[in-house]
Amino acid sequence: MTSDTGIPRHVAIVMDGNGRWAKRRYLPRVFGHKAGVDTLVKTVLACADRGIEHLTVFAFSSENWKRPTEEVSFLMGLVLVAVEKYLARLASRGVRIRMIGDRNQLTERLRQACDHAESSTAHNTRITLWVAFAYGGRWDIVQACRAAMRAGVKPEELDEATLGRYMSFGDAPDPDLLIRTGGEVRISNFLLWQAAYSELVFSDCLWPDFDEDELDKAIRAYADRDRRFGLVKATVPVAEQATGT
Ligand code: FPP
Repeated sequence: MTSDTGIPRHVAIVMDGNGRWAKRRYLPRVFGHKAGVDTLVKTVLACADRGIEHLTVFAFSSENWKRPTEEVSFLMGLVLVAVEKYLARLASRGVRIRMIGDRNQLTERLRQACDHAESSTAHNTRITLWVAFAYGGRWDIVQACRAAMRAGVKPEELDEATLGRYMSFGDAPDPDLLIRTGGEVRISNFLLWQAAYSELVFSDCLWPDFDEDELDKAIRAYADRDRRFGLVKATVPVAEQATGT
């Protein structure tokens, strides 16, 4: 079983299915992304209400640059619109915002909007929303290695704990629960390092339709899991157990 409360400290979400949600309504794909932002805001607040301390969402992957130019531009613009429309509300509800990803790929305007979202919510402590933008799990590992090398860490000093400190979350706990909406059953280069022991929940729900019921369903599935972190189960005699996974 999981922690006493059954509530994960850190939830990560691959918000998939925006395009299909729009297509089903005979709308252009970007309408799905727009609806996805509204769902994201509701989900952050729902997570905070449940005592979840960290929520990480995959908003734009390293691979999403390959999408049609108009869709990429729309998603970039959507961040600016979202900051304008929702920042004050999230800030007043105790949400701290952190952006993770390759900022060098962003325009100056977008970088400034991200900086503003982070600095104006830095004092908040209720929940941290980590927005993974221009992010890839492989990118994160490479940037962490580079940062460690730049800091002069010697090869023989490099271990998992040391490298972990250079990864995007720094000291934040690894995700306990990773949810992917939209029916696909894969990680898609999300938190490759940090999700090593996350419980995975896949939902057919398209992201704009994700709601509190879906969140609670995922939390219940998580609470029913037997988290072993590669250890053997204490209640079963060791001789009866297969290798821990
Ligand atoms: C995947 O759906 C979703 C994305 C690539 C973008 C997710 C972004 C948001 C929900 C907006 C977040 C924005 C901010 C400002 C943080 P898809 O397009 O791959 O859907 P499909 O699989 O149905 O085509």
